[in-house]
Amino acid sequence: MAYAAGVDVGSTQTKAAIVDEAGRIVARSLTDTGANVVQAAENAFAMALDDGKLREEEVEYVIGTGYGRYRVTFGNDQVTEISCHARGAVHLFPKTQTVVDMGGQDTKAIRVAPTGEVLDFCMNDKCAAGTGRFLGAAAAALGIPLDELGPRALASTRPVKISTTCTVFAESEVLSWLGKGKKIEDILWGVHVSIALRSAGLMQRVGIDDEVTFTGGVSRNPAVVEALEQRIQKKLNVSEECHYLGAVGAALFALDHILASRAGHPVEGVK
Ligand SMILES: Nc1ncnc2c1ncn2[C@@H]1O[C@H](COP(=O)(O)OP(=O)(O)OP(=O)(O)O)[C@@H](O)[C@H]1O
Ligand SMILES: [Mg+2]
Repeated sequence: MAYAAGVDVGSTQTKAAIVDEAGRIVARSLTDTGANVVQAAENAFAMALDDGKLREEEVEYVIGTGYGRYRVTFGNDQVTEISCHARGAVHLFPKTQTVVDMGGQDTKAIRVAPTGEVLDFCMNDKCAAGTGRFLGAAAAALGIPLDELGPRALASTRPVKISTTCTVFAESEVLSWLGKGKKIEDILWGVHVSIALRSAGLMQRVGIDDEVTFTGGVSRNPAVVEALEQRIQKKLNVSEECHYLGAVGAALFALDHILASRAGHPVEGVK
């Protein structure tokens, strides 16, 4: 049995996934990217091998993706994260037509074909509004751990409207609402609504179809899911695996390579 791996070196977190020959996810891992990008990729891969109780030699092909994909020094090839999130999303939710990937620094909206091929995409410019960074700034201002943000926001009863879309100003706006005596839960819900507005705008640019899959780390935040569903008036496909779907997509591209070269016709590389 051969295995294929994908390593998604994101701006904030590095994810690795390993699939077997049938494309089943057999291992995955997550670590902070930090300043040493090469090390983060190595650590994530070693942690995934550990998770799947596999030896490095059993993994035949590795594809790097994410902003640090060229720093996956042990990788055999690289594919962009747009292609990888699309492929991963269609693998987990085969009817996916639109993908929204919200990561630490970027938000991307992607339109996909039933094969997982990218038809169109757009992403936020250099601005971090509507990404995990915006949530991180609010969390830091309020001194709340990231994974508690969503659940607390959902407890809001009298939402506050956050007017800034700028990550830099988010912190001071949050603090000023606190100073006016607003409840943390109500401020937080406002922050989540603001993120949902920005990302729904991006999604509209590629077209929002019936089956929308939410990928990236921010998909773990239940208040972003709720605010986005309210905004686009649709249920999103989301699961615990969604944070790893870029790495899963990369692993599936690596598997294509293994199977094609075994059949004697190397695949044309997707980028
Ligand atoms: N348990 C959690 N609960 C809530 N939010 C989370 C959780 N884990 C991660 N996040 C959010 O996900 C973000 C990281 O997501 P992800 O790993 O997809 O980013 P990335 O791939 O490093 O970034 P990018 O794609 O922008 O380069 C964090 O910044 C945080 O906002
Ligand atoms: Mg990412």
